[in-house]
Amino acid sequence: DKGGWSSFMAKEINEQPEAIANTVRGRTAGRSVEIPELTALGDDRLRNIDRIIIIACGTASYAGQIGAYAIEQWARIPVDVQLSHEFRYRDPVLTDRTMVISVSQSGETMDTLMAVKYAIEQGVTTVSVCNTQSATIPRESDAAVYTHAGPEVAVASTKAFTAQITALFLIGLHLGRVRGELSTEALAEAVQQLEELPEKMRVAVDTHAEITQLAHWMADTRSVLFLGRHVGFPAALEGALKLKEIAYIHAEGFAAGELKHGPIALIDHGQPVFVLVPSPRTAPLMHSKVVSNIQEIRARGARVIAIVEVGDTAVLPYADEVIRLPLTDALFEPILQVVPLQWFALELSTAKGLDVDQPRNLAKSVTVE
Ligand code: F6R
Repeated sequence: DKGGWSSFMAKEINEQPEAIANTVRGRTAGRSVEIPELTALGDDRLRNIDRIIIIACGTASYAGQIGAYAIEQWARIPVDVQLSHEFRYRDPVLTDRTMVISVSQSGETMDTLMAVKYAIEQGVTTVSVCNTQSATIPRESDAAVYTHAGPEVAVASTKAFTAQITALFLIGLHLGRVRGELSTEALAEAVQQLEELPEKMRVAVDTHAEITQLAHWMADTRSVLFLGRHVGFPAALEGALKLKEIAYIHAEGFAAGELKHGPIALIDHGQPVFVLVPSPRTAPLMHSKVVSNIQEIRARGARVIAIVEVGDTAVLPYADEVIRLPLTDALFEPILQVVPLQWFALELSTAKGLDVDQPRNLAKSVTVE
């Protein structure tokens, strides 16, 4: 049941405030974070971990990349993110102090399941971030931290993605607390950010009308680029993947700093570029770098669509379109920034008369290797 929406994807984009609230619920208390499934592993085991490897495919891997920044920042454990289907072929260095966190909406993705099985054979601690109760991957893992996004029907993942980032943030906070790496104030501040997210997410969802208009003007677009820095980089990759998947448009995401090392040669008159601009209040250095990147591409003819925090006026002289999102800490911004990108893919797909929920050549759950 699409609940009055034109597609499951539209319904699921709209459900993101609840998906996040449900993922956080029961895991924050008294301005702290406790995930019972991690507590069950024993605090000594969590204190002993000296390396985390996140394994996932596609959209889930981008959630993993964003989560990695938060886990490193809060728990001070080095985190690598590897694609599930690449993981075992590199003969990964795994010890009894390694934790492997798999991220999978379905919990049945064969590539990820095989990687988890390999990790289990090597004797590492396995944690599953999964949206499907009792799926194979969480059942096989030492601990399951469910995202409570509700069933996701559209092939293109939306609410599972933002719920996965939320769950990984909670894991980072839990680990940081147990390992004594987080001050009470930092923990309380992060909990507040998490608790305020659903409301801010609603504002992000409400960008639908302006994005629909933008997509309408851009219906003939052949190629779109997405730029981000830090956590905005994997969010840019996710924006590009959504567009490829459901609108069949060539799209690429880049780390903004990488532009001058090659991709800037792609910039030509009228080339649309979405830029995820970090918060000037909480990430002033990154913000000014990204504003310079915008100036560089604008000078070469790019059509810049800037996604900014409300009140950011620095980009106004250089951006062709400005999408404004609520204030949040820079680390949390991708959760909001990806929403207009999801709408953009959906509306371009619709403008091209495509089936938003059932893109060609793709299945919701990839159960072959
Ligand atoms: C993108 C998408 C895929 C999945 C990937 C992993 O919209 O849906 O990239 O994210 O196939 O699937 P799960 O999370 O079920 O392991």
